Amino acid sequence: MSKNSSLTNKLNRVEVCFAPCNFHQYEEAFDLIVVIDVLRATSAICTAIEHGVKGIIPVATLEEAKEYQEKGYIVAAERNGAIVEGFDLGNSPYSYMSPELKGKTVALTTTNGTKAIRIAEQKKTVVIGSLNNLESLCEWLIKQNRDVLVLASGWKDKFNLEDTICGGAITDMLLESGRFTSEEDSSVAAKFIYRSARENMFAYLKASSHRRRLRALDLNADVSYCLTPNNVSAIPILKDGMLVPLSDNAKEI
Ligand code: MLT
Repeated sequence: MSKNSSLTNKLNRVEVCFAPCNFHQYEEAFDLIVVIDVLRATSAICTAIEHGVKGIIPVATLEEAKEYQEKGYIVAAERNGAIVEGFDLGNSPYSYMSPELKGKTVALTTTNGTKAIRIAEQKKTVVIGSLNNLESLCEWLIKQNRDVLVLASGWKDKFNLEDTICGGAITDMLLESGRFTSEEDSSVAAKFIYRSARENMFAYLKASSHRRRLRALDLNADVSYCLTPNNVSAIPILKDGMLVPLSDNAKEI
């Protein structure tokens, strides 16, 4: 094989990092990060951008969220699945479909998802993934010809099943394209978990910790929505601290 054809055929890597506390073990090799928090932060963010929200500012702490409130922003805050008292919105994807939010900027803080986004923010490209935008995201990732790290938000720095399923779905689609390879056992495990869950993710997650948490808060409809693949095509991208829609011919990547 000539030197040129081996360069042309070089495979990119796709890997899954199970929780933000492991990010430092993976991040060095990657400058394209996909942050996921299926239940529910990144599903809500994808939905918001799809429904015309101008931008989402991911905020790590409640203190920072209060500062945005004082500056007059619409501020959404969730902790442990519930809306934090005194804030305008929480983390339900349905609340971001409201026509009143069209064209508006929302500052958002959540238990895990927005923290993970902030952990990745120094990287060249940070995009938001979910099961909702799975297909459009993977199609775009395949075109980038770059190594991809999927960062699962997990739950308070622990592994969680729903983000692993989504990370596995992304890995599976990218590997199936023939242009990617995975080296880490985390990525192989995520792919196999996705494959065993994909026929009925809602049932598969029955005993998972956050599904139980959201069920107790009467949020099963949110869970069903978040586990519905490909009902959104928007790909939010982090630009100057704000998540905005990735335009089709994005030159800025
Ligand atoms: C999070 O960021 O931890 C989640 O989105 C929690 C939730 O379901 O609201």
